[in-house]
Amino acid sequence: MLHAICSKKQLTAHAYYVFVADILEHANMQQLKQFRHHVHTTRFQHSINVSYYSYLICRRFHWDAVSAARAGLLHDFYFYETCEYDRSAAPEQASHFATHPKLALSNAAMAFSLNAKEEDMIVHHMWPVVKQKPQCKEGFVVAIVDKYIAIFEYLAPFWQRMRQTLVGQN
Ligand SMILES: [Fe+2]
Ligand SMILES: [Fe+2]
Repeated sequence: MLHAICSKKQLTAHAYYVFVADILEHANMQQLKQFRHHVHTTRFQHSINVSYYSYLICRRFHWDAVSAARAGLLHDFYFYETCEYDRSAAPEQASHFATHPKLALSNAAMAFSLNAKEEDMIVHHMWPVVKQKPQCKEGFVVAIVDKYIAIFEYLAPFWQRMRQTLVGQN
């Protein structure tokens, strides 16, 4: 079952899936299930969350929803645990925030054919945490959805516990 966070829609039965199936079923993408992301989820699930909601928003405004969906899936396409990024031996080395979008783009370009918008959305998705802005409107959607989704992912277990407590009181 493939769902985005806060959604009951089965994604394999959704029009969205047709546009991203080649990426989702790729062995490298499946590998992202091994990596934790934002403490309580996996990088695979986080990528789906960003991709699906970016797709819905861009589709609503008649923007390039397909490129947003594809770039959303690939924006964190790197293969190490984030907490293992260590620059203590070389403090002048760029931060994980600055380096992982470039790494994601390079990994994504090796595995898939990307258009210019998708490249832009992947490499600039850390805006506004880093200064470089996306060059297309869809890029702003992916960057903002990424940050909102991160908050939801961090807080999901607390909300779940709160809901269970409230239901238990009724
Ligand atoms: Fe990221
Ligand atoms: Fe992300």
